[in-house]
Amino acid sequence: MSPVARRPRFVAGNWKMHKTAAEGGALARELVAHLGARPPCAVALCPPFTALEAVRQALDGSPIGLGAQNLHPEPRGAFTGEISGAMLAAAGCRYVIVGHSERRHGMGEDDALVARKLRAARRDGLTPIVCVGETLSERDQGLTADVLVRQIRSAYDGLAEAEARETVIAYEPVWAIGTGRVASPEQACEAHRIIRATLDRVVGAGAGANVCVQYGGSVNAENAPRLFAEPELDGALVGGASLEAASFFRIVAAAAAVV
Ligand code: PGA
Repeated sequence: MSPVARRPRFVAGNWKMHKTAAEGGALARELVAHLGARPPCAVALCPPFTALEAVRQALDGSPIGLGAQNLHPEPRGAFTGEISGAMLAAAGCRYVIVGHSERRHGMGEDDALVARKLRAARRDGLTPIVCVGETLSERDQGLTADVLVRQIRSAYDGLAEAEARETVIAYEPVWAIGTGRVASPEQACEAHRIIRATLDRVVGAGAGANVCVQYGGSVNAENAPRLFAEPELDGALVGGASLEAASFFRIVAAAAAVV
């Protein structure tokens, strides 16, 4: 029997509201030095808006991608304090995080807004990293599958398979984000399978197998090898552990290790 082709792995660092431009540039330079000209898998850094230019300069000539953490769905207009996808693309971004739970739950972003942001990212040539995941109370009530199906259905409804393939999904259980309480590999795999099956239904058969699905939530250098032993996990969206070059580098190395 021939081995099943593995999807390429992708690790992204979500710096959240950490790092000034100077600090971000320094961390990016350190990472470039660690990862060299040929990182072992796809890597992206998502600094705050104000550090994008400094990080872009630090990544110049490196295959490490630049990403933003949010965008406004409109291309331009009277939206004080907002940033459009076109602006991010012009600033050198290749990726943008969409629907992170800290925005869904902390800033009132609903499924409809997340769907608009996904489309705006694609319109402006960015690869959206679409975050989905259940809260602890939803998990405790046995609603994990319902929540994932609803979030994926809303975000992907109407997209063609080729379009869906150019997106990334991050399964981030809300109870695991920033808590040190990482999902078990079994919990992550189960959620990823639900996400892929939903993509098959909403976008078209086979879509689920082709989309990169990352896991996110308390990933660190110690638990990464155990998580990445699962071929189901195509990478990680890393918060806290992406703020130091040494730990992020070890996570990237673990993701790239052949399982
Ligand atoms: P964490 O954050 O790794 O600090 O838990 C992950 C995320 O929110 O993307």
